[in-house]
Amino acid sequence: MKKILITGGAGFIGSHVVRLFVKKYPEYAIYNLDKLTYAGNLENLTDIEKYPNYHFIKADIVDGNKMFELFQQYQFDGVIHLAAESHVDRSIENPMEFIMTNVVGTVNLLNAARKIWKDSTGKKMFYHVSTDEVYGSLGETGAFTETTPYMPHSPYSASKASSDHFVRAYHDTYGIPIVISNCSNNYGPNQFPEKLIPLFINNIKHQKKLPVYGQGINVRDWLHVEEHATAIDTIFHKGKIGETYNIGGNNEWKNIDLIKKLIEIVDRKLGRPDGTSLSLITYVTDRAGHDLRYAIDASKLKNELGWEPKIKFTEGFETTVEWYLANEKWLENVTSGSYQEYYRKMYDNR
Ligand code: NAD
Ligand code: DAU
Repeated sequence: MKKILITGGAGFIGSHVVRLFVKKYPEYAIYNLDKLTYAGNLENLTDIEKYPNYHFIKADIVDGNKMFELFQQYQFDGVIHLAAESHVDRSIENPMEFIMTNVVGTVNLLNAARKIWKDSTGKKMFYHVSTDEVYGSLGETGAFTETTPYMPHSPYSASKASSDHFVRAYHDTYGIPIVISNCSNNYGPNQFPEKLIPLFINNIKHQKKLPVYGQGINVRDWLHVEEHATAIDTIFHKGKIGETYNIGGNNEWKNIDLIKKLIEIVDRKLGRPDGTSLSLITYVTDRAGHDLRYAIDASKLKNELGWEPKIKFTEGFETTVEWYLANEKWLENVTSGSYQEYYRKMYDNR
């Protein structure tokens, strides 16, 4: 039986990766390691928590000794590393947490793998999940390829870029078998409502202001989270050691256009007259260092490993809105308590 460590499995993308692996590979033992920060939520996994091949470990990747002990105890065959502080706005408020988890935490995992895998690296795989934000910002044309130079602008993207460099360096220096993917913006169920789409669905539902940063002209390339999970599955099993793969949705949207589409869908699903919530749009102070445009050239992944996105955005977007409207309890649970404080801090004086 293969033992796979998935870090950050209680978060948005991690929970979809854990579900896919637990269900698709009953012959693997899946270990979900998560600190359960504000973004980690075991409610995301209630449907698979009783599967015999699923195990949960509550731990902090910043604790290097603990990572070593766990690698020694379980002798993992593979790692899919998603645990991270992931929200750009929080990184602007508190960069240190991002450096600790995203950089130090990643290096702790690499150190544990280096020590425990020293005689058997050929059979192992350390998969580091990263972001397109490491490449910086594009102008009106072009797309990021795997060879685009790194130029991060936020503390979040700088910490992810740094972790990518360490992962590559541990491959080149110590022979750790690694693979890295850099993905564009994900949407779908279970995303914490600090990120644009779930935040705005929740605000439209409650008729609260929609804080659009700057002029709303920034462009993001949106991919359904379940497709990110299938891309990770493909790369984990077929990716070439030492390589990087870009993952994207071929689906660019200007923020303001995406927001208007979201308003149209939410109003329709709640039985409100078309255009009811357009007046909630409120232009607020821009995000510092706000990247103008991201776009991914994912042709390497398509040509070499045969993966490409299949979910049509129009359908994925509708079902995503339906999920948030149907899962009221989930939304209520994650937006109670410290979320209110976060919201006031981020948006009250913007
Ligand atoms: P998320 O914030 O929803 O989840 C992060 C998870 O990591 C949470 O469960 C949290 O509890 C856990 N975690 C945080 N610090 C930890 C620590 N010190 N020790 C152990 N666990 C810890 O994030 P997400 O959006 O699911 O992103 C997952 C990964 O994918 C990240 O590495 C992120 O950089 C990357 N990524 C995200 C996107 C996106 O659009 N969300 C796109 C590309 C790449
Ligand atoms: O590109 C991949 C990245 O996508 C991931 O690495 C990050 O973890 C993930 O958070 C996401 O980063 P973004 O900054 O692009 O996502 P966010 O949802 O925070 O913002 C999307 C766009 O919407 C961005 O241009 C900022 C804007 N925005 C966001 C919020 C929260 C607003 O206009 N208003 C808001 O209130």
